[in-house]
Amino acid sequence: VGHNLITLNEVDSTNTFLKDAVSKSTPLLDGTVILAEKQFAGRGQAENSWQSEPGKNLTFSILLNPFFLPVDRQFELNKAISIALNDVLKKYFPHSAFIKWPNDLYISNKKVGGMLIENIVQGNKIRHAIIGIGLNVNQVDFPANLKNITSLKQELHQDYHLIGLLGEICSSVEARYLQLKAGSFIKINEEYQHQLYLRDEWAPFKFDGKIQSGKIIGITEIGQLILETEDETRIFNNKEIEFLN
Ligand code: BTN
Repeated sequence: VGHNLITLNEVDSTNTFLKDAVSKSTPLLDGTVILAEKQFAGRGQAENSWQSEPGKNLTFSILLNPFFLPVDRQFELNKAISIALNDVLKKYFPHSAFIKWPNDLYISNKKVGGMLIENIVQGNKIRHAIIGIGLNVNQVDFPANLKNITSLKQELHQDYHLIGLLGEICSSVEARYLQLKAGSFIKINEEYQHQLYLRDEWAPFKFDGKIQSGKIIGITEIGQLILETEDETRIFNNKEIEFLN
């Protein structure tokens, strides 16, 4: 991962760039990385935009070809990538780096990064997976509309070398991807569950239109949140529940 690195000064979105390239059958090696200095239409989860100060952060996409993975097990890839990213963050934040289900990375209870995985499916298998990653690194001024957000520099008051960090992330993703390819689903799942933000802690959530207390006890095989509430254990899909901290 990352041996083939394409750096663009400016692009709409590195995910869109890779998607277009793949759909035109451009030959690209497994593990190709598209890195952008600036994205003018960066995309986040749920049709949101991804805003990032040009040149300060990492905004990139990795192309993987996990043809071994049936599409109904796509969350296995989400888990492998999540722990790969969190493994890197834990080096700098050993006690405060967590994976916030389902697509975010948190340090010190704030969002430092997010991922957007887009799959191109063939039959019932994932032909290509485009792993878009946005990580706030050296940005310290954030737009007022972005709440509960941080960067590595904001927390540790030092500048980080972007390409060095990208190299660490690529090695980490490669290691976890190989583990996934080798079929170590159980090991990956165990590590994932242990790195979850707010796991085993009572916290406020919003669901069924109300603010209610809940405790995350795990994630199902297909990537749904398992929450203990005052009177029962409930299972939620991504959009059915909102974290309030
Ligand atoms: C989220 O937290 O909502 C996911 C953010 C993903 C952002 C990255 S930046 C690189 C890649 N290109 C995009 O347009 N989006 C992802």
